Amino acid sequence: MIEKVFIDPSDPVIVELPSYIGGLQVFQGYGTHMHGIATDHDGILVDVLEETLEQLKGTEEHYKFIYLVPDFQNPAGVTLSLERRKKIIELSKKYDVLIIEDTPFTLYEILDYGLL
Ligand SMILES: Cc1ncc(COP(=O)(O)O)c(C=O)c1O
Repeated sequence: MIEKVFIDPSDPVIVELPSYIGGLQVFQGYGTHMHGIATDHDGILVDVLEETLEQLKGTEEHYKFIYLVPDFQNPAGVTLSLERRKKIIELSKKYDVLIIEDTPFTLYEILDYGLL
């Protein structure tokens, strides 16, 4: 649904690597060109993200959104740090790019399942 609403098949999207295989399969099935940004123990590397946005800015490749799994990421299990979240919001405004936040694992559910 997000693909159909926000992008044309040739538009690129930005994803973190690794990322949720189900999300990537949807984007691939839609013919999207994905730009992968590496992650570490604090989540997506925001410096690399900024470089990529800067490179894509004004090119024919019109990026529309960044797909992120910020909490208990699947498959890496990392949670995006507060500092990087703030930076990503700043970049989203600066480069006029949407953030698609896929957060199926909320703290409420985790507590509900007795995992913490
Ligand atoms: C990041 C992420 N998004 C979405 C889903 C899909 O969730 P659901 O099976 O509830 O549609 C999963 C499932 O593992 C996931 O890890």
